[in-house]
Amino acid sequence: MASATESRHGMWSSKWLFVLAAAGSAVGLGNIWKFPYIAGQNGGGAFVILYLLCIAFIGVPIMMAEVLIGREGRQSPINTMRHLTKQHHRNPAWVLIGWSGVAAGFLILSYYVVIAGWALYYILQMGSGALHGATAEDAGRMFSDFLDHPLELIFWQTVFMAMTVYIVSRGVISGLETAVRWFMPLLFLLMFVLLGYAMTTEGWRQGVDFMFRFDLAKITPDAVLAAMGQAFFTLSLGMGAIMAYGAYVPSNTSIFTTVSIIAVLDTVVAVAAGLVIFPIVFTNGLEPAQGPGLMFVTVPLAFGQMPLGALFGTIFFILVSFAAITSAISISEPALAYLVEEYNAKRSRVAISLGVISWVLGLGTVFSFNYWADVGVGGQPTLFDFVSWTTDKVMLPLGGLFIALFAAFALPKTVVGAQLGIDGGLLGVIWKLVCGLVAPLAVLIVFISALVS
Ligand code: TRP
Repeated sequence: MASATESRHGMWSSKWLFVLAAAGSAVGLGNIWKFPYIAGQNGGGAFVILYLLCIAFIGVPIMMAEVLIGREGRQSPINTMRHLTKQHHRNPAWVLIGWSGVAAGFLILSYYVVIAGWALYYILQMGSGALHGATAEDAGRMFSDFLDHPLELIFWQTVFMAMTVYIVSRGVISGLETAVRWFMPLLFLLMFVLLGYAMTTEGWRQGVDFMFRFDLAKITPDAVLAAMGQAFFTLSLGMGAIMAYGAYVPSNTSIFTTVSIIAVLDTVVAVAAGLVIFPIVFTNGLEPAQGPGLMFVTVPLAFGQMPLGALFGTIFFILVSFAAITSAISISEPALAYLVEEYNAKRSRVAISLGVISWVLGLGTVFSFNYWADVGVGGQPTLFDFVSWTTDKVMLPLGGLFIALFAAFALPKTVVGAQLGIDGGLLGVIWKLVCGLVAPLAVLIVFISALVS
């Protein structure tokens, strides 16, 4: 039975547009905001190495699995799983991968939009020159004052959500293609300007040391779980986002090549962000483990001390907001595509409903930084930490585990071979080994060791 060659939602116009769109999904707040703060909380060095290992041995094979399943099914993840399980007479329970992805998407989007709103706020702050010549204390105070005003946070959350809903209603493909063509190269350029600045600071050596010094004592089961969760998050894996994008990939595109490029681009941005932020942290005597505020204190501080800092700072936060929006779009795509298919609904209607639901959920994150800052939930310090813990460390890895197993064992060998362009042989064995054994086993071991400890 031949699979469809086109998706009803449209198709990427070329292999490169898929690479850009998937890189746009992967590169986001996860790289610039989350990676540095999680690395800081987990002591740097060892965490970073573990993270890189997880990208290579868990992330890349699972991303390949998502793209190949998506391209085989050519529908939203839920309907793709329905179609493939039916076609190949597999247990319908595999469809749960699609449903849990939709649930994870709502949770992630709810807080993602709040943090992206902070980036919007900082566009104005940088532009106004308010941070010119600011000390570490000034930058810290400005951020904590901002967090103390929930209405302001809600305002920016709303603006960002409205922008996301607007772009998403116009269709991912036309909405994204223009955006990613411009912003990705610019973001790279600006990261390197910042990197140049970081190299001139006193804390450069110490920052590099912090990022790469391998300290065995810091490898705890918790740090390993954090590294794995971050690898899933940063590559947008485990909830069907890449599977949804895979449905729009032309049939003749090489999955291995495109996935490798995406993973490398994503990793370069994350490592560059760390190399920018930690030298600033050490130069100014800041705390690397301070948590979610890390980027919002260090980066403005650096721009405040740089010539033309107000200009570059404004551009930087514009690019971060762009990076965030291309990611937010991909987080909502699995649910959106499903609802459009299922109810023949208009994309704009569905987009607005999805936006409203995750906006309401996002209020929990807003209040986690003020009214509810001291309210622990489920063993985590705040509701925000709990949501982020549940998605990154439980839902995404579990989703990824089952995606890998589905690709390795439930799909017929001929289907997978045709998708990957390999017909058995050594490559087939390597694929089976990595996707069917190494990646799932690694996820399981990390899970169990973290549970036991
Ligand atoms: N990877 C994005 C980032 O780093 C976030 C993201 C987009 C995501 N789509 C996702 C995370 C799907 C998990 C699942 O910012």
